[in-house]
Amino acid sequence: MHPCAALVERHVSPAASTGSAADFMPERRTLPALREAAARCRGCQLWTRGTQTVFGEGPRHARVMLVGEQPGNDEDLAGKPFVGPAGRVLDRALEAAGIARGDVYVTNVVKHFKWEPKGKRRIHAKPNQMEIAACLPWLEAELDLVKPTVLVCLGATAAQALLGGKFRVTKQRGEWIASRWAPRVMATVHPSAILRAPDDAARHAEMERFVADLKHIPPVLAARAA
Ligand code: URA
Ligand code: SF4
Repeated sequence: MHPCAALVERHVSPAASTGSAADFMPERRTLPALREAAARCRGCQLWTRGTQTVFGEGPRHARVMLVGEQPGNDEDLAGKPFVGPAGRVLDRALEAAGIARGDVYVTNVVKHFKWEPKGKRRIHAKPNQMEIAACLPWLEAELDLVKPTVLVCLGATAAQALLGGKFRVTKQRGEWIASRWAPRVMATVHPSAILRAPDDAARHAEMERFVADLKHIPPVLAARAA
C-alpha cells in the first residue's frame, strides 16, 4: 500500500478520537445545537464504549446547575442524566431541600458511560484525566449558556474538574466557594456515595448531610431574587 493510503486509513479509522470535544463544537451555541453536536462527539475513546452521548438536561435559564461525574448504566440506556439509582437519591434529596428538579439543569463532567464488564453487568469505571479534559468543552459551553447563579459539584470528579485538582470535598463540602463558573459554587458528595453507605443508619446520616448541603441553595436564590 502507498504510505499515504495507510495514513488516510488511520485517520478515518472508526475508533479514532480527536483528543477534544472542542473539535465538535457547533458554530451556533444553543442547547439543542450543542446536544446534537455532542451526539456525534469523538473527542475521546469513550464514544466507542457507551450507547449514546448523555447530554445535560434542564431549563435554559435554570438558576441552579448540578454536575455529576458521568452517566451510569441506566443513563447510558435512557440518554438522560441521573435517572438511575443515584438519580433517585438526588430526586429525594432535592425534594427534601425544597428544590424542584424541573427547575434545575443537571449534567455530568463526562458525557459517555465508561464501564468494565463484570459477568453480564457493566460496572462503572472512573474516567481518567485525558477523558475529563477532552469532554470539558461541553460542560463549559453548558455553563456559558445557562449561566447558573448556583453551581453544585456532586462528588470529587466534578469538584476537581471545575475547582482544581487540590480540591477536597471532605474538607470543603457545603461551603460557598469563589470561582469563575458562577456567583455561588459549592461541592458536596455524589449521591452514589450515599448508596454505598455500609448500613441503613449510615445511609440515613449521609442523606441528612447531603440534604443539609442542598438546603443552603434556596436562601441564596431568594436573596438574589429580592
Ligand atoms: N452518576 C453520575 O455522576 N451521573 C449520572 O448521570 C448518573 C450517575
Ligand atoms: Fe466526546 Fe465526552 Fe463522549 Fe469523550 S466522553 S466522546 S469527549 S462526549
